[in-house]
Amino acid sequence: MSNSYETILVERRGGVTLVTINRPEKRNALNIQTRAEGAAVLDELRADDSVRVVVLTGAGDKAFIADADIAEFAEHTAIQQREVMLDRSLFNAIDGFPKPIIAMVNGYCLGGGCEVALACDLRVAGDKASFGQPEINLGIIPGGGGTQRLTRLVGEGKAMEMILSGEIIDAQTAFLIGLVNHVVAADQLETKTMEIANRIAEKSPIALRLAKEAVKLASRSNLDEGLRREVDLFALCFSSEDKDEGVKAFLEKRKPQFKGR
Ligand code: COA
Repeated sequence: MSNSYETILVERRGGVTLVTINRPEKRNALNIQTRAEGAAVLDELRADDSVRVVVLTGAGDKAFIADADIAEFAEHTAIQQREVMLDRSLFNAIDGFPKPIIAMVNGYCLGGGCEVALACDLRVAGDKASFGQPEINLGIIPGGGGTQRLTRLVGEGKAMEMILSGEIIDAQTAFLIGLVNHVVAADQLETKTMEIANRIAEKSPIALRLAKEAVKLASRSNLDEGLRREVDLFALCFSSEDKDEGVKAFLEKRKPQFKGR
């Protein structure tokens, strides 16, 4: 792993890698550099077989990611901003990441930050975290997938309210509407998230990858197409040594040792 990133920290913890957006003085706001470095880090991690699960978080206890960098908005013309948004490399890198990626949300999770969390597979929040798509307050709308992913996750009514009102909701409310998977006391956030991440990291990386692909089809294809592709992906698992090991370990009443082959 190269260490040439200025805005991102990468820490290996066995099969789980912790990726931290590190601009706490700017509430980890996503500027062009952070987006590009985030995408580059994920490119490196995707190619590394020892990385089974990624946990994505923001440095400090104030923010996961406060938002897109609003200072850059002020400088950009429409054409420049369109280029930034069309080159959604960070959102694409997260969405297309072939391994499980968990957002560990510790504080403000707003606008582009909420969109980053939405692109992840699971969201675990500390009880001081807050969520929102406040773009409307600046006379703009979400542009990093918020209108689509939030709506798919929590339904049109709740998504519409958050996006039209720009209101910020607390972690408990986010849990109630299904925006986050778990809410825990802020001082337990890391423990709980690592517990979930480590449990997932023990599974077969091949099965995880295929399961993720299959689940994502649910919102991107019609039911018949999704069911057909699910069977193909299910059958593909049968070509792996991990499937042989999983079945054998079950029959021998022992824990499987998955190798990702
Ligand atoms: N873009 C650029 N800089 C940001 C930022 C963002 N999205 N969010 C925070 N910062 C910067 C502030 O400018 C400030 O920098 P400074 O110390 O150089 O003045 C620093 O981070 C701390 O921010 P501050 O507002 O003092 O922190 P806070 O903890 O009191 O409040 C927020 C945090 C996130 C509630 C507040 O910064 C905020 O409302 N941000 C904008 C959210 C928003 O409306 N987003 C919609 C845009 S699409």
